[in-house]
Amino acid sequence: MSDSFDAIVIGSGPGGYVFAIRAAQLGMKVACVEKRATLGGTCLNVGCIPSKALLQSSENFEETTHHLADHGIMVSEVKLDLARMQARKGEVVSANVKGVEFLFKKNKVTWLKGAGVITAPGKVSVDGVEYAAKNIIIATGSESMPLPGVEVDEKLIVTSTGALELDKVPERLVVIGGGVIGLELGSVWQRLGAQVTVVEYLDRLIPGNDGEIAKQFERVLTKQGFKFKLSSKVTGATKSATGVTLTVEPAKGGAGETIEADVVLLAIGRRAYTEQLGLATVGVATDPRGRVITDAHFATNVPGIYAIGDVIAGAMLAHKAEDEGVALAEILAGQAGHVNYGVIPGVIYTWPEVASVGKTEEELKAEGIAYNVGKFPFTANGRARAMGMTDGFVKILADKRTDRLLGAHILGPDAGTLIAEIVTAMEFGASAEDVGRICHAHPTLNEAVKEAALAVAGRALHI
Ligand code: FAD
Ligand code: NAI
Repeated sequence: MSDSFDAIVIGSGPGGYVFAIRAAQLGMKVACVEKRATLGGTCLNVGCIPSKALLQSSENFEETTHHLADHGIMVSEVKLDLARMQARKGEVVSANVKGVEFLFKKNKVTWLKGAGVITAPGKVSVDGVEYAAKNIIIATGSESMPLPGVEVDEKLIVTSTGALELDKVPERLVVIGGGVIGLELGSVWQRLGAQVTVVEYLDRLIPGNDGEIAKQFERVLTKQGFKFKLSSKVTGATKSATGVTLTVEPAKGGAGETIEADVVLLAIGRRAYTEQLGLATVGVATDPRGRVITDAHFATNVPGIYAIGDVIAGAMLAHKAEDEGVALAEILAGQAGHVNYGVIPGVIYTWPEVASVGKTEEELKAEGIAYNVGKFPFTANGRARAMGMTDGFVKILADKRTDRLLGAHILGPDAGTLIAEIVTAMEFGASAEDVGRICHAHPTLNEAVKEAALAVAGRALHI
């Protein structure tokens, strides 16, 4: 036995690394096992951070090529240096992953480099060296969901990981899946010049989000140049030297068609990743979707083994994983760690952005909860007009009887930042009237949130 710890967390993504830091702050001797060459997991290496770097760069390109002229700024000969754009993305990732390494050193968290296997309760083997731990935390994250008949090679048929690495703008990019990854990374390549076609199984985009927002979002993206094939499924992919031929059929059956693509992005969801972790050996129970089953305190069925993040049920989001990491560390330290799952925001970092928190109108209807709705369009917001970014609206849902906030859904400029106000209000159990009565600086985009809150009681001022 090489060494022993209070806690060993397997995986250094937002769940694992944040758990490690918080547990160390609380006085535990902690190790984190990571098999990737750098810390930070999917999020920092091949997820949130590189995608946001490319979204920012491509947004700057789009703004320069298409929108600066509206402001009277004439530029000519704008050129894309994709190699530089990719290099910058690499620098952003590198700064972030090194940041986690620094935080580990600062908090005296030991990085055990290699693949971790749980060999018995209280025992983790890392590349053959065994370590003991009072508590073992599974934070191994998720991986891209495969689709039979569509073989990923990360060159012609890519997952998000390959889509972040393309060294040439594809002329025709076909995205399978009209969800978060498909629309974010589709936006990157569309802005840089690709013709993007999205094939989505359902009759709508971004399932799980508010339907009215999704419909408007589809219109805005169509205006930007996206093509959508809804209610359609890909049944096969044939590769040639130059591209891919996809067979696409109506979701409910019927005559199919073929679509030619230079690159295909497969983005139909992610699944829990527990490969070669030893779960079967130690008897950790998983659900039919392969996710580790936990109780309300993140405990698995095996005493001393816990799980957090994408590998357990719930939204596959970095901030959800982080909050679970903090909560579990506090629970193990004897404190009252807790995650409020009803108030976890979700953001899609396209332009405009989509942000949501709480219940959708569809959910409220299904649950038979009576509600009032208030809406306010960005066309009526002075700041949005000044920015020239008036697509979208704010929608607020509040309990019909008590006026308590139940949910908010925003399509618009900087929606991801705007939603934080409602998240805070909901954490404090605020009513729509509370938000409507708060003084909001003028002229700001946040005034649209205030106006939507006022609109819940039919008293918006500027529409
Ligand atoms: P992960 O981040 O997946 O980390 C798990 C780590 O465990 C990995 O580094 C893996 O190498 C390691 N590991 C696995 N098994 C072993 C083992 N046996 N031994 C050692 N190490 C092991 N979420 C957001 O909230 N906002 C976003 O903007 C966002 N953008 C995204 C963009 C993309 C393209 C993708 C793919 C995802 C995005 N996500 C985003 C989702 C986010 O990345 C995940 O929710 C988050 O990373 C989950 O964190 P985690 O700690 O559970 O697992
Ligand atoms: P997703 O669940 O968001 O979207 C998948 C889409 O594919 C859905 O619309 C689904 O109906 C569709 N689909 C499923 N099977 C299909 C098929 N056979 N043919 C056509 N369409 C099909 O999953 P996605 O985009 O892969 O993202 C995975 C996860 O990563 C998400 O759960 C999300 O939480 C996380 N993520 C979060 C981001 C953010 O917070 N901004 C950014 C990127 C990813």
